[in-house]
Amino acid sequence: CQSTITYIDGDAGQLLYRGYPIQDLAVNCDFLEVCYLLYYGELPNASQKTEFQDLVMHHTMVHEQMQFFLRGFRRDAHPMAILTGMIGAMSAFYPDSMDINSAEQQDISAIRLIAKMPTLVALSYKYSIGQPIIYPQNDLSYTQNFMRMMFATPCEPYKQNDVLVRAMDRIFTLHADHEQNASTSTVRLCGSSGTTPFAAIAAGIACLWGPAHGGANEACLSMLEHLNANGGISKVGEFMEKVKDKNSGARLMGFGHRVYKNFDPRAKLMQQTCREVLGELGLENDPIFKLAMALEKIALEDDYFVQRKLYPNVDFYSGIVLRALNIPTDAFTCVFALARTVGWISQWKEMITDPEFKIGRPRQLYMGERAREAKPVAKR
Ligand code: ACO
Repeated sequence: CQSTITYIDGDAGQLLYRGYPIQDLAVNCDFLEVCYLLYYGELPNASQKTEFQDLVMHHTMVHEQMQFFLRGFRRDAHPMAILTGMIGAMSAFYPDSMDINSAEQQDISAIRLIAKMPTLVALSYKYSIGQPIIYPQNDLSYTQNFMRMMFATPCEPYKQNDVLVRAMDRIFTLHADHEQNASTSTVRLCGSSGTTPFAAIAAGIACLWGPAHGGANEACLSMLEHLNANGGISKVGEFMEKVKDKNSGARLMGFGHRVYKNFDPRAKLMQQTCREVLGELGLENDPIFKLAMALEKIALEDDYFVQRKLYPNVDFYSGIVLRALNIPTDAFTCVFALARTVGWISQWKEMITDPEFKIGRPRQLYMGERAREAKPVAKR
């Protein structure tokens, strides 16, 4: 495809959204400004920002019947399974979205997705732990609202922590788009048939779930926890030999990237965010963080990783931050999906408004049998 949304120079370790470096956006803008930028193409001015915030925050509630739908799931269902189902179900709640050629329908579907995703992620989490649902509160910022819906209870006032809110907001920004990765290509391919945007995004969520993609931070944290429980820093050398041994089947999760053959710029920002969050929570000596830093140091000096240009990716530290923010491990990918929704819907809009838009069809190289006769079973 042709796209004007995100640019990556993997050799230089550069990531731009609409021309702006991710480092600037992560420091100078909040996530909703980044959403505006990705979807509309420019950063909002002050009044556009207020108007957009107001629009998004007045679409945060989900249809009350969504709760009945939710109750059909087992309580121990993986939150990504629930999220895929609930986003797919949104087409049933907003049948007008089937008119994908209407600019009005395109835009309102985008706003609904960006606005309702935090509510749906929080709903599935509260359901899994059996706590009452917390409704959105529209005078909060997008990220404050998400934190409150996740962690407040009706029994006491919820106190926001600015450092933790900023960290979560930055996680959203760092994951908002990443050009034609597996889930984004899935959204484009699925959406290319003219299906509803909700169905296309549900396909993207299903793709994101896997451990080679959005599930990598969950896999990375599990790896660090396992290593910590089995010898910690003293076993790092042995562990590194294992990940270098092709027969072991083990990989250093959170390392390597299909596009970045240099530092993933998001990984540096994530490491800095990790320090800020652990400092705020008095967890500077967190053994998992120390282990991650020890692994990173060894890997960056090891010939195996240097020759293959394997550097930490965004997931190497994001699991540690999410854990410190109290996000349960199996909901990590839901947070990623929440953040990536704006990227997916921006790419979908770009595709369907392209004058040359047509259904996608990947090409194959046929390697099978030549034409042959199919005989009745008695003659085979
Ligand atoms: N640990 C050990 N070795 C690795 C790793 C790793 N994490 N990643 C790649 N390698 C090795 C491969 O074994 C291969 O070695 P070889 O040339 O001797 O055969 C070489 O480096 C190239 O690896 P490929 O798998 O061909 O690289 P590819 O670009 O296909 O893979 C991927 C990229 C899937 C991300 C890979 O690096 C990986 O599995 N990393 C761990 C999972 C992970 O962190 N995924 C998150 C990606 S970022 C995201 O989705 C947000």
